[in-house]
Amino acid sequence: MTGKQRFLAAAHREPVDRTPVWFMRQAGRCLPEYRALRTRHDFMTIAHTPELAVEATLMPVDRLGVDGAVLFADIMLPLEGMGVPFEIKPGVGPVIANPVRTAEDIERIRVVGPEEGTPYVLEALSLLRRELGDRGAVLGFAGAPFTLACYLIDGRPTKEYPLAKSMMIGAPDLWHALMTKLTDITIAYLRGQIAAGADVVQLFDSWLGLCSPDQYREFVAPHTSRIFAALKGLAPTIHFSTGTVQLLDQIAATGCDMVSVDWRLPLDVAWETIGADRGIQGNLDPATLLAPWEAVALQVDRILAQAAGRAGHIFNLGHGILPQTDPDQLARIVERVHSSTVAPRQ
Ligand code: CP3
Repeated sequence: MTGKQRFLAAAHREPVDRTPVWFMRQAGRCLPEYRALRTRHDFMTIAHTPELAVEATLMPVDRLGVDGAVLFADIMLPLEGMGVPFEIKPGVGPVIANPVRTAEDIERIRVVGPEEGTPYVLEALSLLRRELGDRGAVLGFAGAPFTLACYLIDGRPTKEYPLAKSMMIGAPDLWHALMTKLTDITIAYLRGQIAAGADVVQLFDSWLGLCSPDQYREFVAPHTSRIFAALKGLAPTIHFSTGTVQLLDQIAATGCDMVSVDWRLPLDVAWETIGADRGIQGNLDPATLLAPWEAVALQVDRILAQAAGRAGHIFNLGHGILPQTDPDQLARIVERVHSSTVAPRQ
């Protein structure tokens, strides 16, 4: 099978010749060739220039042998079309000068499609689809409404997103109005990405672990479900979050095809909670990669044993690569997952 066939078969829970592998944040975190590119261009320039974005996207594919290529972009990019300027501050992360806090702020958010808001993302995806060929699946992505709302309301990275959560709990009408707009934008964005060349799309709900089961049911899940319903049949969908052991059953019920899980539960236990009718992605702790190779190999083997050759597993980390990771560890993981999951020839 080609990397693309392998990835798509797993995403459809069909048999594969080897378990497909990719790594979250493979494109921008630890590769020296990316660092070299970054000395010549800043982050926004790379993201806005399709040729440069595709160059960065392909770096880990060439070097690591992964089966998927995640577009070099960021979950914050659609904010430009919404009319909410932001900046990526080195060492801090995304910062919004005028956060969204009032009914008027929410009213002002423009709901535009990606053709108007982020045309360079669509162009990059078409170029990537052509250049990648069958080597791997093209992964498009978007930030989920909850995680985007955390940034929009608090305005900068925090641990707890207290302003976002207090709007959610104390002003549910405002909250749902904002979430409805973000959901509309996300649906148009992901549909546009699929039309432009994404084979699979992942919804990043990075801060979802802050929600209790009741909060998720009332304030988040209906919006997430609407996104997956709108994408049904267009391309396989992956839901990503971390720290969400308390939500996994509800996440599986939102209608995604695959659930990305972190290391806080063994993969087989998580899969039981999600149910056999969903695929699973994960779930190596990214900190493992800083340990000696023998310790890494032990953990990789444990995850593969827990997956037990069942159809519908995509090997990944439980969260993004840490910046100090040695890329050779990643290449060795790809080799080990591929070589130890070879299916017997029919
Ligand atoms: O594999 C890839 O790196 C693909 C591209 C990608 C980026 N961001 C590039 C980026 C992806 C998939 C993301 C997703 C993203 N962005 C998430 C969800 C994943 C997760 O980790 O939970 C979140 C929460 C963000 C928001 C964001 N953007 C943060 C917190 C930061 C700062 C720190 C960092 O590197 O994560 C960014 C900036 C950012 N996004 C950079 C890159 C390569 C660093 C900018 C630089 O090079 O100066």
